[in-house]
Amino acid sequence: MGVRALWYEDHTLHLLDQRRLPGRTVVRHRRRVEEVAEDIRTMVVRGAPAIGVAAAYGMALASRQRGWTSARAARRLGSTRPTAVDLFVGIRTVEEAWDRGEDPEAAADEYRTRVVEECHRIGVVGAPLLARADRVLTHCNAGALATVEWGTALAPIRVAHQRRPSLFVFVDETRPLLQGARLTAWELERDGIRHAVIADNAAGHFLARGEIDAVIVGADRIARNGDFANKIGTYEKAVLARENGVPFYVAAPWPTFDFARPNGRSIPVEERAMEEVLTLAGRRLAPRGSAARNPAFDVTPARYVRGFITPAGVVRPADVAGLRPVARRASRPGSARRGSPP
Ligand code: MRU
Repeated sequence: MGVRALWYEDHTLHLLDQRRLPGRTVVRHRRRVEEVAEDIRTMVVRGAPAIGVAAAYGMALASRQRGWTSARAARRLGSTRPTAVDLFVGIRTVEEAWDRGEDPEAAADEYRTRVVEECHRIGVVGAPLLARADRVLTHCNAGALATVEWGTALAPIRVAHQRRPSLFVFVDETRPLLQGARLTAWELERDGIRHAVIADNAAGHFLARGEIDAVIVGADRIARNGDFANKIGTYEKAVLARENGVPFYVAAPWPTFDFARPNGRSIPVEERAMEEVLTLAGRRLAPRGSAARNPAFDVTPARYVRGFITPAGVVRPADVAGLRPVARRASRPGSARRGSPP
């Protein structure tokens, strides 16, 4: 069994505390929606697809607690992080089932299964793109930790690596919270995939020297025109990739597509606490009097994307809008295998 970011058993959501990795493996056991909301806000669980699944289970937990309506639980969970649309899709999926009188736990299980299956599919669909790319750059953590299992950006890397063990991954450290250095490196290490962590400002150096053959990242929200939000620093990697003639791919399951947004300008960008920038591993770096700005995401214009790796195939930005019916079909209740985690 590979890494799992979370699982649900005995009416309890079990979450791997991602703030502690890679140093310690700590699992949190949650039976209350307020705890799950706090875990999403504080990034015990993180990554767009994973917070969607966690929120779906948060709704299921609320349905078993006294004093919670579906609308109140949806508001509480929805107030945690604004950028990843998956969060709201996970909430809405269970809210609708709850309101129809169906079993919210079964709805959350089905949502989880759907996300895992879609990520696996992304791996199969995306791996051929890496057939001639020996050295791949990725940003943030878009692995199993961010998606429950497989990953988005890491799924094609995992499948390609099974076929070609020499594959090499450049891992952006991803300041301020170091999801690359801490989490992506941890996942790759466990899978025996060769990699090197690089400082966030080193990618241009390697791209310019021809040492990177492809860039692949995940997304937190993809607008109808193909503009997309992802971890802060993604935009500059996309520009650098274009400047150096290196293909730039975005891998995402259907819940990450927000067809209601015409373009990236209307995507809400979360701004987090200054301390995340002013400190490193709990130690103050900057002078006491310094302030900071800390946008957690940036928006990359569609023109920098060579292709979106979706569960249904690789598409160009111009074709994203046309995916709406496919995504809608995939989100219908019953479209994923029902049942407990594999
Ligand atoms: O702030 P985070 O760690 O939740 O941000 C995560 C990312 O930006 C990931 O790249 C994104 O969610 C895609 S994950 C499959």
